[in-house]
Amino acid sequence: MKRQPRSNRPSARPGRSVSIVGTGSYVPERVLTNEELSKSVDTTDEWITSRTGIKTRRIAAKDEHTSDMAARAAMAAMEQANVKPEEIDLILLATASPDMVFPATACFVQTKIGAKNAACLDVSAACAGFLFAVEIGQQFITSHTYDTVLVIGAEKLSSITNWTDRNTCVLFGDGAGALILQHRDAGAHGIIATHIGSDGNYSDILWMPGGGCRTPITAENAHQHLQTIHMSGKDVYKQAVVSMIDASKKALDKAGLTIEDITCVIPHQANVRIIEAIADRLKISIDRFFVNLDRYGNTSAAAVAIALDEANRSGRLKRGDYILMVVFGGGLTWSSTVIEW
Ligand code: UT7
Repeated sequence: MKRQPRSNRPSARPGRSVSIVGTGSYVPERVLTNEELSKSVDTTDEWITSRTGIKTRRIAAKDEHTSDMAARAAMAAMEQANVKPEEIDLILLATASPDMVFPATACFVQTKIGAKNAACLDVSAACAGFLFAVEIGQQFITSHTYDTVLVIGAEKLSSITNWTDRNTCVLFGDGAGALILQHRDAGAHGIIATHIGSDGNYSDILWMPGGGCRTPITAENAHQHLQTIHMSGKDVYKQAVVSMIDASKKALDKAGLTIEDITCVIPHQANVRIIEAIADRLKISIDRFFVNLDRYGNTSAAAVAIALDEANRSGRLKRGDYILMVVFGGGLTWSSTVIEW
C-alpha cells in the first residue's frame, strides 16, 4: 500500500477535514421496462441489455419535479446525518433538468426542507455535476466559510428526453441522491483528494441545443425536439472511457494511493460496457465496482449520488475503506473524488 499512516501524511488542507456524515436517495415509483419501450420505439430488450446493461428505469410523475425528488433525497441524508434543516449553511444542487431556468432549483429545495439559513445555488456540469458540487462544498468548508453543506444530484431527464429517438430514450431515468458534508478536525476520515476537468471543444457531442437564449423554442422549431438530449453515442463513449480513467489516476495520485488500495469504485452509471472498459484498463476487478444502472439507467447528475447512498446503506462501505467516485458528462466534464470512508 502506497498510502502513509495518517499521522505521517502531509495534510493538503491543514486545520480541517471534510467528512460525509450522511447520504440519501429517492427514485420515483414508476418502473419503465425495456419491454414497454420496445412497444413505442424500434428496439428490443436484447439490444438495450447487451449494449448498455440497462433493464429498467424510473420515471417521475407529471407533478413530481426535480426539486421534489431532491428534497426527498436531502431529507433522507439529513436524517442519517442527524442534521437539522436550520443547520445547513449551503445547498448545492447539480442538475441538467432544473425545475426552471431560474430561480435555482436549490431554492425550491430550501423551502421544501425548511433550510432557512442556507445559501442556495445550482451547479451545471451535466452528468459530472454531483462531484463538481462536492468539490465546491469541500472548498467552502476548508476555507472556514461554512460548516455544513448539503450536496444534491437530481434529475427529471424524462422531461428532456425525445421519446421517439431510440438512440437516447432507452438510456435515461429520473431520481435524486444527496449527501451532507461537515467539517471535522484535521486528519479525520473524509474526502482525501479530488479532481475536476472540462473540455468545451466537445460541447456538441452531448447537449440540449434548444430552450436557452441561443435557440429559444418557438412555434416554428417546436417539432424539432431541440429541447431534448442530443448525443453522439459513439463519440461520448470513447471520451467517457478516456476521461474517467485519467480522472481516476489523477485523484489517486493526489491521494497518494494506488488502485489496489480502493475497495469500492462508484462510477457514473451510463453504460456497463464503459464500466467494464475502465475496470479492464485500470486493472481492477469489476467486482469492486458498484453498479445499479441495470435498475435506474443513466440518471445523469443523480447517478453517482444514488449509487453512493445504496452502497452506504447496503453495508458495502466499511469505516476506513478507500472509495473512488468518478464521473463524466456533457461539456465535456469529468470529476473524481477519493474518500476514506
Ligand atoms: O451520461 C453521459 C454519458 N453518456 C454516455 O456515456 C453514453 C455513451 N454511449 C453509449 O453508451 C453507447 O454509444 C450507446 C449505448 C448510446 C450506443 O451503443 P453503440 O454500441 O455505440 O451503438 P451505435 O450508436 O453504434 O449503434 C449501433 C446500431 C445502429 O444501427 P446501424 O446504424 O448499425 O444500423 C443504431 O441505429 O444500433 C442502432 N441502435 C439501436 N438499435 C436498437 C441505436 N439505438 C438502438 C436501440 N435499439 N435502442
